[in-house]
Amino acid sequence: MQVKKLADLAVAGKRVFIRADLNVPQDEAGNIVEDTRIRASLPSIRYCLDNGAAVMVTSHLGRPTEGECRAEDTLAPIAVRLGELLSKPVRLIRDWVDGGFEVKPGEVVLLENCRCNKGEKKDNEELAKKMAALCDIYVNDAFGTAHRAEATTHGIARFAPVACAGMLMGAEIDALTKATETPARPLVAIVGGAKVSSKLTILKSLADKVDQLIVGGGIANTFLLASGKRIGDSLAEPELVKEAQTIMDMMKARGAEVPLPVDVVVADEVSALARANRIPVDEVGPHDRILDVGPKTSAQLAQIIAHAGTIVWNGPVGVFEHNQFAGGTKMMASAIAHSDAFCIAGGGDTLAAIAKFHIAQDIGYISTGGGAFLEFLEGKTLPAIAALEGRFTD
Ligand code: 3PG
Ligand code: MG
Repeated sequence: MQVKKLADLAVAGKRVFIRADLNVPQDEAGNIVEDTRIRASLPSIRYCLDNGAAVMVTSHLGRPTEGECRAEDTLAPIAVRLGELLSKPVRLIRDWVDGGFEVKPGEVVLLENCRCNKGEKKDNEELAKKMAALCDIYVNDAFGTAHRAEATTHGIARFAPVACAGMLMGAEIDALTKATETPARPLVAIVGGAKVSSKLTILKSLADKVDQLIVGGGIANTFLLASGKRIGDSLAEPELVKEAQTIMDMMKARGAEVPLPVDVVVADEVSALARANRIPVDEVGPHDRILDVGPKTSAQLAQIIAHAGTIVWNGPVGVFEHNQFAGGTKMMASAIAHSDAFCIAGGGDTLAAIAKFHIAQDIGYISTGGGAFLEFLEGKTLPAIAALEGRFTD
């Protein structure tokens, strides 16, 4: 993957437009709940400021209706947090597409939610050209949005005088490439979460590459069904049993495997007060809901992780938000923390699990991407990266 990199460019006195992904979770009052993405965006912003550039940063927040900017759409709380982290004021500029605002060298402004501009989502060419005219250098640092071809992630890269990858984008590309192109073996993938359907393509593409595919949550239940087990009232997608079977067959034919739970933690409801029972997987009753893997399974998964050369982690194996269903994910997190394998992790639930079990410092690389992380692992071309590649030789 060949793209220009921000660190190789002279930015002094230049107008730099940085597309970041500052799409952070907020509570109902608009307070930022988790600011990893803002912190991850700082190195590029600091580099530009320290080297005397006039810096404009923009991002989307949520999925607003274009042409409107409601109270919940504004980047105002993000401007405040960014200012705290940079220890300097960050002005928020509204209605910025046609210019008419000033930014001095060494100053940074935040341009209001780019998805409020008409034409952003559809990658409108006229909009992209107007935005490109605002800058001398366009920097894409929004890895979390790299799977979207929108005006600030794609179109602008074609028209800006120079288009390059920011430091976060560069680090993401390097780490994910390392884990996918020349992984140390065994390569173990952990794919958890509620639905097979939303992760079916990633499961199929991983089935072709990895040595062990650990499945968790509703995905594991669908695989249990496919292997002829009873899962009671558990969340699963019976219509995808055939697909799950195909994936297991594909793996088996290559001498690889999908290790399925031998014991599970069940309850009759998902709640903080639910009474949990640990039982062998063959004893799941008609009203049971499987909410975590049992201790024997956890120990087996920990063994697999201990012997891994590379680990790719997306999704928990149980409903770890409640302590009685957190055992499997906790054991796995601890095994990952102690393993010498290079581990890359990504996705909102995974980041929450990493925070809950305090293992961030033991993970080789934590991706800021959710959808983008998965699509990269699937081997898809991400439109935002392709747009930068197209400008490499100019
Ligand atoms: C994300 O949170 O996954 C990214 O910011 C992309 O957001 P989107 O799914 O609304 O495009
Ligand atoms: Mg998303």
